[in-house]
Amino acid sequence: MKWVSEIFQALNLSVLGGRGVNHYEDVIEYLMAGASGVEMCAAAILHGLKHVKGVLKDIETFMERKGYKSIDEIQGRAMKQIYSARQMMEEVKALYAEVDLKKCVGCKRCPEVCAYEAIEVLPKKVRTIKERCSGCSLCSQVCPVTAIEMKERENDLDHFRALAWEHKDLMPGLFKDK
Ligand SMILES: Cc1cc2nc3c(=O)[nH]c(=O)nc-3n(C[C@H](O)[C@H](O)[C@H](O)COP(=O)(O)O)c2cc1C
Ligand code: SF4
Ligand code: SF4
Repeated sequence: MKWVSEIFQALNLSVLGGRGVNHYEDVIEYLMAGASGVEMCAAAILHGLKHVKGVLKDIETFMERKGYKSIDEIQGRAMKQIYSARQMMEEVKALYAEVDLKKCVGCKRCPEVCAYEAIEVLPKKVRTIKERCSGCSLCSQVCPVTAIEMKERENDLDHFRALAWEHKDLMPGLFKDK
């Protein structure tokens, strides 16, 4: 997908996306990354050609739901959200997750996906631990009631500290005023 987006931006050529296309979301992702078409091999072998019909139907449903009239409207749409490593450092704000306790129903999906142990389970709710949150936003994507909001951090140093909190001994300089 990285190469599809790079070729789409650098050259005036049609790009075919491929590898790992199973469901309609995979097709949409490649298109949004700049592909003008995708190939599907393994999934069609495994599930038969009727699977392709199903994927086409799902793409249609997605386009209707989102109001897209043509594939052209989808192609390259993700470009404005693809950043180089330098842009990531300079332009993209670090985030942290915050739980709206009024909305949280305590389903405990979010602590299961948090690899940073940044979500504390309370008796009937959860809360995030800002000092540990990497800002990956996975928790907000699995929450069934959109109770988790991603907020901008005030400064990058706190973000780096959160990424490194488990290994303070390796980066003492980062924590010297703590
Ligand atoms: C069973 C099988 C055999 C394949 N044989 C070849 C081949 O002989 N030459 C080739 O260039 N690609 C071959 N491919 C790769 C496909 O052409 C295609 O690029 C790739 O499988 C696309 O990814 P997908 O299977 O995840 O959709 C093969 C793929 C599969 C699954
Ligand atoms: S954003 Fe990522 S690191 Fe932060 S609490 Fe959610 S899952 Fe954990
Ligand atoms: S996923 Fe959402 S509802 Fe479930 S515990 Fe986390 S914040 Fe609460």
